Amino acid sequence: MKVTVVGAGNVGSTCANVLAHNEIANEIVLLDIKEGVAEGKALDMWETSPVNLYDSRITGSTNDYAKTAGSEVVVITSGIPRKPGMSRDDLIATNAGIVKSVTENIIKHSPDAKIIIVSNPLDVMCYTAYLSAKVDKSKVMGMAGVLDTARYRSFLAMELNVSPKDIQALLMGGHGDTMVPLPRYTTVGGIPVTELIEKEKLDAIIERTKFGGGEIVKLLGTSAWYAPGAAAAQMVEAIVKDQKRVLPVCSWLEGEYGQDKIYLGVPVVLGKNGIEKIIEVDLNEDEQALLNDSAKAVRNVMDVLEGMDVL
Ligand code: NAI
Ligand code: 2OP
Repeated sequence: MKVTVVGAGNVGSTCANVLAHNEIANEIVLLDIKEGVAEGKALDMWETSPVNLYDSRITGSTNDYAKTAGSEVVVITSGIPRKPGMSRDDLIATNAGIVKSVTENIIKHSPDAKIIIVSNPLDVMCYTAYLSAKVDKSKVMGMAGVLDTARYRSFLAMELNVSPKDIQALLMGGHGDTMVPLPRYTTVGGIPVTELIEKEKLDAIIERTKFGGGEIVKLLGTSAWYAPGAAAAQMVEAIVKDQKRVLPVCSWLEGEYGQDKIYLGVPVVLGKNGIEKIIEVDLNEDEQALLNDSAKAVRNVMDVLEGMDVL
């Protein structure tokens, strides 16, 4: 099983490290445009194998896509991250050009690859990759919901002083401040979260989740990488091991949830064929209205992209 990670920056190198450390793929290629960076990081990671006791082979490449040939899954993290005061949408012009050219190169060498986009603005970068890859919609998806629900679940675990392992949650919509955490679909060891936490506190956690990315940017001066890298690796694992995991994934919708021709986060079954099924749960009026708002925000960025002549 071969997996490529494009972009050997903070998120890409963390993702590759998790993939190797957990032996999720037996061959991992890390690729970056910056001379020597991917090779150096891959070698450093490989040198941890005798300490961490894994034998996944990890190699680096400076923009040589021939080395990525035959990849089962490709994670695209290349692009610029946010700095304080920037929104994810400020990244659009630069990152759309990067995602387009990277996707075209990947598909040339791995026409059957499942592609997981991480670069921001996430939902619209998925759209960029989908148009560039010209493959089935089940094969081009984005990582955001796994990260955003992880943040939500970790905040709930702190508040309730329970293990994050026992918290299950669903969050839908775009990867932005309009994302839609769903308390009705959040449980703690099978108990509805609304029975364990008062509304005010839950509302505060939902707000913190929506701005969870910004909270880290404020602290670090750039965006997060440990949780994003691990979240992308979890999606890779679901695909390469055909786990049929039920995860929130940014997916191309054609009518589901009343949304047509747009990438948005929804629950899916993730297996060896990529997105094997989009699960449609019942949303009440308020939840549907929040999802519609989130879709509107994503469409605004799609409009900006379409006016830019990048695609
Ligand atoms: P970073 O700056 O540490 O790494 C990006 C890497 O991409 C750099 O090493 C750069 O040389 C490389 N790169 C740029 N153009 C390239 C090209 N054409 N081909 C190959 N490599 C190229 O940034 P970081 O922190 O790793 O973030 C990467 C992206 O992921 C950003 O757009 C960020 O906003 C996004 N992100 C998305 C998250 C999500 O939940 N979807 C979470 C965290 C970050
Ligand atoms: C995050 O949510 C910035 O998308 C990035 O951390």
